[in-house]
Amino acid sequence: MQNILVTGGAGFIGSHFIRYLLREYPSYKIVNLDALRYSGNLDNLRDIEGDPRYTFVQGDICDAEKVDEVMGEHEIDALVNFAAETHVDRSLMEAGSFIQTDVYGTYILLEAARKYQVERYHQVSTDEVYGQVLEGSSLETDPLLTRSPYAASKAGADLMCHAYFVSFNIPVTITRGSNNIGPYQYPEKVIPLFITNAIDDLPLPLYGDGRQMRDYQYVSDHCEGIDVVLHRGQPGEVYNLGTEVETFNIDMARMILKLLGKPESLIQHVRDRPGHDRRYSLNCDKIKALGWRSRHTFEQALEKTVQWYVDNEWWWRKIKSGEYMEYYSRQYEGR
Ligand code: TYD
Repeated sequence: MQNILVTGGAGFIGSHFIRYLLREYPSYKIVNLDALRYSGNLDNLRDIEGDPRYTFVQGDICDAEKVDEVMGEHEIDALVNFAAETHVDRSLMEAGSFIQTDVYGTYILLEAARKYQVERYHQVSTDEVYGQVLEGSSLETDPLLTRSPYAASKAGADLMCHAYFVSFNIPVTITRGSNNIGPYQYPEKVIPLFITNAIDDLPLPLYGDGRQMRDYQYVSDHCEGIDVVLHRGQPGEVYNLGTEVETFNIDMARMILKLLGKPESLIQHVRDRPGHDRRYSLNCDKIKALGWRSRHTFEQALEKTVQWYVDNEWWWRKIKSGEYMEYYSRQYEGR
């Protein structure tokens, strides 16, 4: 494995993963294929732009010709797919682009993996494919009972990956990660949204009773987990990837306000998300058996994340205009 294609590398987790690979593997060459849609942002990669081992190509994973050209030209021998539509609330407004990018796009990449006989195709998936887990924790063998169009699209992609492993022997691995937090996360996701709103003394729109739970992991821990599976995971296998600790949304909101020295009166309960999954919970024994461990507690991850948004207004202030504000008013006005 020397020439790695990272798709969706201008997004939040993908950009961290590219930086991580360049740091950990001095001999690797990385190609980043990203369509640069609303949340893809080259500002996320500014610090590595000039690295001779890094190449950016603008393109869509649904564009078979483009994918084929990149695979051939750069002699790609491993592919890691981060490219996806990822926001549940947007999938409730419009599901078509999720099916297109997440399912059809994955199929295009799998076909490319097949043609170029890559050493590894790694699919970055999500704990949301299991559906809500009111008690206990999900095992990799649990059924996929998705409840949002976003989750259904990601589950479709997981199943397509499995089908390509079985039918065509493509060496596919899948990680199903819990929620990520850290620098460069687009502020539609709850934690950067709450942090940046709180900095500006704007309300924190908490859905429903705020007693839904998520496992929030620090993005660099997630990148290390993907690396472990990419290099040491078994083809055909799925690996859950999270901290195994869940936090109530209301507690997360209070912690953010406390870290920023802002009053709890900024929390505003708003109408709940339809079909809101109350809890996800992962059993991560399988990836731990490969030697991976989460390095950050939620408190440590949140503290670092809050500090980054405080220090990097240059990054998020320009995002919070135009398309973002349009989405924001559609999503939250009158809620
Ligand atoms: P989100 O960041 O959208 O991730 P997920 O894919 O897990 O839904 O939301 C995380 C949790 O925060 C989820 O329970 C929904 C809740 N939430 C709010 O309460 N208010 C908000 O404005 C958003 C975006 C999410």
